[in-house]
Amino acid sequence: MIVAANWKMNPGLSEAKKLASDYCTAAHKGVTRILFVPHPYIVPIRKRLQGSDILLGGQDCHQMQSGAHTGDVSAGMLQNCGASIVLLGHSERRAYYGETSELVAAKATMAFETGLSVMICVGETLAQRNSGDALATVLQQLTISVPVTLPTTALTIAYEPVWAIGTGKVATVAEITEMHTGIRHWLYSAGFGRTKILYGGSVNPRNAAEIFTVAHVDGALVGGASLISADFDGICAAAVA
Ligand code: PGA
Repeated sequence: MIVAANWKMNPGLSEAKKLASDYCTAAHKGVTRILFVPHPYIVPIRKRLQGSDILLGGQDCHQMQSGAHTGDVSAGMLQNCGASIVLLGHSERRAYYGETSELVAAKATMAFETGLSVMICVGETLAQRNSGDALATVLQQLTISVPVTLPTTALTIAYEPVWAIGTGKVATVAEITEMHTGIRHWLYSAGFGRTKILYGGSVNPRNAAEIFTVAHVDGALVGGASLISADFDGICAAAVA
């Protein structure tokens, strides 16, 4: 099982250091923990994670190796600073920065060629779900966002229904089952047999156990609850219960 924390644009540095240290005080056998931090925190948080088995990741990277891209961060920079994985195509980046699946694929290719693993996010909006297009939307995102050249073990998929992110609304077991089964079939037929699929969207220590019982759910991508170390620990504990 994988439990990944997405801190997004939170918290302040001193709180971030304390939070990372708190993560390290608990061991979670059988759970791969990944921590996606804001870019300036990669170096200081790497120091806090030394000696722990928690993997460190960036929340985005540029599709080019280097160049005149003011404000952007390259995959190589993330790797140089101690990241081993990068989160790509999060719905907030797709919505607020107009990131297309084509761009996500270019970023994923660059990240992998640089030596990073990639976690690619997919998920439908409420309007797409209400019009019956949820599965088709997600399969279309996968088809375009996932470069076929990626090795199966360098890729993780996070299914995050947009309407469940930060809203307290969690997809039902039936909705997660349908989507994760569909994603699993797609992954098998595309040659990604060993790729894991995480669920994300308002996961907390109270709902995690039920989500983890769903077929083809290999873990969770956690936003809000990852900012409270006891909650993150509770989700990790539920992953192996
Ligand atoms: P949330 O965020 O857990 O706060 O809903 C999840 C995510 O956006 O990755």
